[in-house]
Amino acid sequence: ALSHSFAEEQGGGGETHQSAGGDVATLTTQNGVPVSDDQNSLKQGARGPTLIEDFHFREKIFHFDHERIPERVVHARGYGAHGFFELTDSLADITRADLFQRVGEHTPAFVRFSTVAGSKGSADLARDVRGFAVKIYTQEGNWDLVGNNIPVFFIQDAIKFPDLIHAAKPEPDRGFPQAQTAHDNFWDFISLTPESMHMIMWIMSDRTIPRSFRFMEGFGVHTFRLLDAEGKSTFVKFHWKPKLGLQSVVWNEAVKINGADPDFHRRDLWNAITAGDFPEWELGVQLFDEAFAETFDFDVLDPTKIIPEEVLPVRPIGRLVLDRVVDNFFAETEQVAFCTQNVPPGIDFSNDPLLQGRNFSYLDTQLKRLGSTNFTHIPINAPKSPVANFQQDGHMAMRNPVGRANYEPNSWGATTGGPREDPVRGFRSYAEVAEGPKLRIRPESFADHYSQARQFYVSQTAIEQKHIGDALVFELSKVERADIRARIVSHLLNIDGDLAATVADGLALPLPQPAQAARPTIMDLPPS
Ligand code: HEM
Repeated sequence: ALSHSFAEEQGGGGETHQSAGGDVATLTTQNGVPVSDDQNSLKQGARGPTLIEDFHFREKIFHFDHERIPERVVHARGYGAHGFFELTDSLADITRADLFQRVGEHTPAFVRFSTVAGSKGSADLARDVRGFAVKIYTQEGNWDLVGNNIPVFFIQDAIKFPDLIHAAKPEPDRGFPQAQTAHDNFWDFISLTPESMHMIMWIMSDRTIPRSFRFMEGFGVHTFRLLDAEGKSTFVKFHWKPKLGLQSVVWNEAVKINGADPDFHRRDLWNAITAGDFPEWELGVQLFDEAFAETFDFDVLDPTKIIPEEVLPVRPIGRLVLDRVVDNFFAETEQVAFCTQNVPPGIDFSNDPLLQGRNFSYLDTQLKRLGSTNFTHIPINAPKSPVANFQQDGHMAMRNPVGRANYEPNSWGATTGGPREDPVRGFRSYAEVAEGPKLRIRPESFADHYSQARQFYVSQTAIEQKHIGDALVFELSKVERADIRARIVSHLLNIDGDLAATVADGLALPLPQPAQAARPTIMDLPPS
């Protein structure tokens, strides 16, 4: 309905005014005051200055001016959806975690898929790792499994993460390139970080240009612990396997899609869910104990290593179904805060130094990104289980201690004394014995950087191997410094001689000497 009223009465210039009435709500200020005219600021005379008393104008512009919040320091571009986790095989004999007890039970979940290096407005089909972050709202608090679509990581210690990300993001003097892989800084860092070689094989494979989020695997990457009621620990690796199988595009398709529709992946997820074609993943676990871990040639605390499925099969225990798109992209997908430290009773950390550092980093960055210690009060982050403690106040506090007491111990009664500890239901850490001198050191068990890189490469089909070679030649051809290219080839020589030769040939480089291995790779060791 078009109205005239004020603007015309006041001689205003013929704008379209749409009026409230019937089912159409009345426009109000943030303060709830009904608005008469949202098109014209308040002026002294039709051609006069705008008046500072125009609180509606000032509030509207003020709010707009502050719409942006910092984008995530990594994984800025992402897309989320709601769903549920259903347990299909009980782990009650292994863990007290509530969500792993009762077969058939549904637990609400929210998932955000992302790219790592690009900014919030970058294109979906970049050659990049994909984040696969899952928040499961269990009855004993939220469990965040903040994983990727690749089961290993570039670095072994979180202290190197700022360097990795600085090297991957645009170069600071020029502010480009956006592409994480195709530039000198990235490959310079990688060439000086041999522990990244296993990850590099995965990055250069088709895994980093997925057909859509629905065709990706996901991995918790680190070794975690499951604890039973007695505190007995079992090591665990988590795997998500897509029901639709694994599919990727090829590089020239990725380039075309990025140009034609940079929103290709988010559009795909939205379209599938709104059409009722709900994407689904199987949750699988690799379970093992300390004694089994000792039998490996690598360290299960090293996040650059997988446990081969031939050695330890993945046991399916549940499924994740995404069946609802968000109502509001900003409120949910942008404000969701995943954090590796969010684990319910029955799930615990291992000493993986990457995981230990992540447990600090997420909470810290989210204070900056979301602006308040109270970001767990935002509905997408709030647990769906009861929350009661004596933390109070701070910016945007939506819930405070209830009753008279805001401290403990206290001698107020049940109604005013507030919540109490629960030694039985409460979270308890694994009682691991830890001792030794304080040192900045990498254990010897983390030293083999090439064996699993080779295992991955040789496990690929001929066409997949060709794609890895092509990707390396393409990416390294963007690197200006010949010494950086040669250093990468020197690492490839420790992985696969043919691959190294192909890449050197593609770059018109003479074959360098192999990089000095930190210690002999497993393939070099005499058979035991
Ligand atoms: C964000 C995965 C290592 C710091 C994310 C996200 C994922 C992820 C999936 C996006 C979460 C979302 O969708 O909101 C991983 C994996 C890692 C890893 C699988 C290695 C196994 C690290 C390390 C650090 C780190 C070592 C720092 C020491 C961050 C930060 C964010 C982030 C600061 C932004 C969080 C936010 O603003 O909410 N990571 N990451 N990550 N990661 Fe990691």
